[in-house]
Amino acid sequence: MEKKEGRKIVESLGCLAGERDEEEEEIEIEQHKGDGTDLGGEEVEMEYGGGREGGGMNGNGNGGGGSAWAGALSPAARYAESGGASLTWENLTAVLPGAGGRATKKLVQGLYGYAVPGRVVAIMGPSGSGKSTLLDALSGRLARNVLLTGKVLLNGKKRRLDYGVVAYVTQENVLLGTLTVRETVTYSALLRLPSTMSKAEVRRVVDDTLDEMGLRECADRNIGNWHLRGISGGEKKRLSIALEILTRPRLLFLDEPTSGLDSAAAFSVIETLRQLAVDGGRTIVSSVHQPSSEVFALFDDLCLLSSGECVYFGDAKLAPQFFAETGFPCPSRRNPSDHFLRCVNADFDDVAAAMKGSMKLRAEADFDPLLKYSTSEIRERLVDKYRISEYAMMVRNTIHEISKIEGVIEEVVMGSQASWCKQLTTLTRRSFTNMSRDFGYYWLRIVIYVLMAVCLGTIYYDVGTSYAAIQARASCGGFVSGFMTFMSIGGFPSFIEEMKMFTLERQNGHYGVAAYIISNFLSSMPFLLAVSWASASITYWMVKFRPGFSYFAFFALNLYGGVSVIESLMMIISALVPNFLMGLILGAGVIGIMMLTSGFFRLLPELPKIFWRYPVSYIVYGSWGLKGAYKNDLIGLEFEPMMPGQPKLTGEYIITKMMGLSLNHSKWLDLSMIFVLLFAYRLIFFLVLKAKEAAAPYIRVAYTRFTIKRLERRASFRKTLAMSSMSKRHNQPHPMAVQEGLNSPLPY
Ligand SMILES: Nc1ncnc2c1ncn2[C@@H]1O[C@H](COP(=O)(O)OP(=O)(O)OP(=O)(O)O)[C@@H](O)[C@H]1O
Ligand SMILES: [Mg+2]
Repeated sequence: MEKKEGRKIVESLGCLAGERDEEEEEIEIEQHKGDGTDLGGEEVEMEYGGGREGGGMNGNGNGGGGSAWAGALSPAARYAESGGASLTWENLTAVLPGAGGRATKKLVQGLYGYAVPGRVVAIMGPSGSGKSTLLDALSGRLARNVLLTGKVLLNGKKRRLDYGVVAYVTQENVLLGTLTVRETVTYSALLRLPSTMSKAEVRRVVDDTLDEMGLRECADRNIGNWHLRGISGGEKKRLSIALEILTRPRLLFLDEPTSGLDSAAAFSVIETLRQLAVDGGRTIVSSVHQPSSEVFALFDDLCLLSSGECVYFGDAKLAPQFFAETGFPCPSRRNPSDHFLRCVNADFDDVAAAMKGSMKLRAEADFDPLLKYSTSEIRERLVDKYRISEYAMMVRNTIHEISKIEGVIEEVVMGSQASWCKQLTTLTRRSFTNMSRDFGYYWLRIVIYVLMAVCLGTIYYDVGTSYAAIQARASCGGFVSGFMTFMSIGGFPSFIEEMKMFTLERQNGHYGVAAYIISNFLSSMPFLLAVSWASASITYWMVKFRPGFSYFAFFALNLYGGVSVIESLMMIISALVPNFLMGLILGAGVIGIMMLTSGFFRLLPELPKIFWRYPVSYIVYGSWGLKGAYKNDLIGLEFEPMMPGQPKLTGEYIITKMMGLSLNHSKWLDLSMIFVLLFAYRLIFFLVLKAKEAAAPYIRVAYTRFTIKRLERRASFRKTLAMSSMSKRHNQPHPMAVQEGLNSPLPY
């Protein structure tokens, strides 16, 4: 019995607010007819967008889209027929499962819609209404803790939409602050435009894009970072958009591209997007916050959200008509988008309450429905009315038509058309430029390493060959290969920043994983060589380790290998953890373990055999580094004995008898092993990134199923669903991830 009920809930998750039984619909229509008439009345003036192509409905203004083109394709479907990328979504629901007794939250529920080539869709709604969530859900970039059900189809087919299929300008700007605007756009162009394009052609594309986005004036200014004041917030936003429109993507998502812009700049940005859609047959979906009436008039379709529910989806020109029919007409001199948001934003209740104090408004309240009803009442009426309206029916019909269109040749959508070598060289140059300009990335570390080397040199100055010097040389070697490499952890914040940039660019398909990893290695190499060479030369000559260039070179290379291995380890950690603090803690812990098993704090033969000796001491760099350092320094030297008169102690004797190390292999093999580990760690980094990409949909499916099962047991969750649970006749819910990972072995 319990199980049966649970099953019902799972099935209903996908249709929280979507479909209703026909019987229910009939009843609702009746009710709303009664409701609507006494609220409405005022005639709506269609002040904007009147003559634009692709108007949704017949001129009689009855909203009867379903019948207006009986037998023919709807206008949106006709756009879809022309080719390009058509996106449809059905019954899209995103749920944030409550943990630790917290209630489950529906972020968006039962959304239907479409985006077709040549048209711009605006997603509007108050803050927190689910605009970004909808964009993330459509582009396969939703946070892992959110459950998603529903259906998203690209040209009638299921497919993954991340990693290059959708270009997405996120709400947050992720840019390299040390580069200038022009450099940023140029690097991005070189990374993605075909390698066959000449330098002049690339420059032209870059200049055109800078002009289009109004970035010419600030083209040669730095973007700015923590210590460098750069371009303004609005310019950063325009730059982020410029980077994505550079390659004219088929499917472009933008999250609030006009925030932080004045109305003229906002108009020019949206106008550019519209040109892109109309001239290039591109499909554009953009969330937008409180657009001016001029900007609003540029949108073709409107998706109005409130608390995750759809208040209206359809032709933007028909939205005022829908509001009028529901009893909330837009006053003739009010910006329609302001009016829509005024109707659905609960915060306006406080504003209305304050305004009601004035006598004039008290009189007006009798006529203005917005002052007569609370926002939650208005919102509820609009949502209910829309759900059963012909506008909603028209959307479903259009979705059906679009997904049935045959013969639309799906372009092989690729984020980058540049060759792998071009990507590698461009990324290496970009990364090197950034590292060399950011004082905090490597320069500061070089300074600290040099200071540390001077400290070490003065403490162990001219260590000599006395009996006590054996211990001193061992500790000095232990410090260099242990603590000096440990200091690489200082670069962690920069790694996290890099990973943020990588994740965003990778999801937009700018370049491949291997190109990124190799470029990161190559660009950091000169700095790491400088770090190790500078500190090694100071320490080596001050302490007076064994003289000879080859011994010095070994010492420096050993340090370089250790620092590079730690860097690679930190990169792996930064790919695994979600934030800087966790990475720092985890990284410090792992390096601590590495130092413990290096053979300095406990001699290698004395380490517990199981686990610590085999395999840990073999797979950490420390033991190889220390063995090599001892051999390099001690072999061939003779030390004073403990008691005068005893024979001198040879380096070989110290290594074998006092440190318990074998001399079966040379120090060069020890050094090579560090470089083998370096390669292995980079390979692991590559595999981690690849696995994260490949496994994401599977993890999402498993997580969704597991969480739904867990939530089924909760009475509160069942209640939440029961309140909005509708017929499951039309829509079989299923985890979204099943369609994201098309190769998923899990049953649909
Ligand atoms: N991964 C997540 N974990 C927890 N809460 C989330 C998550 N994603 C979204 N939310 C919540 O969902 C709601 C909608 O968020 P969303 O970012 O989609 O709003 P928005 O309409 O884009 O708002 P804004 O205009 O302020 O950007 C918010 O209350 C947010 O806190
Ligand atoms: Mg948002």
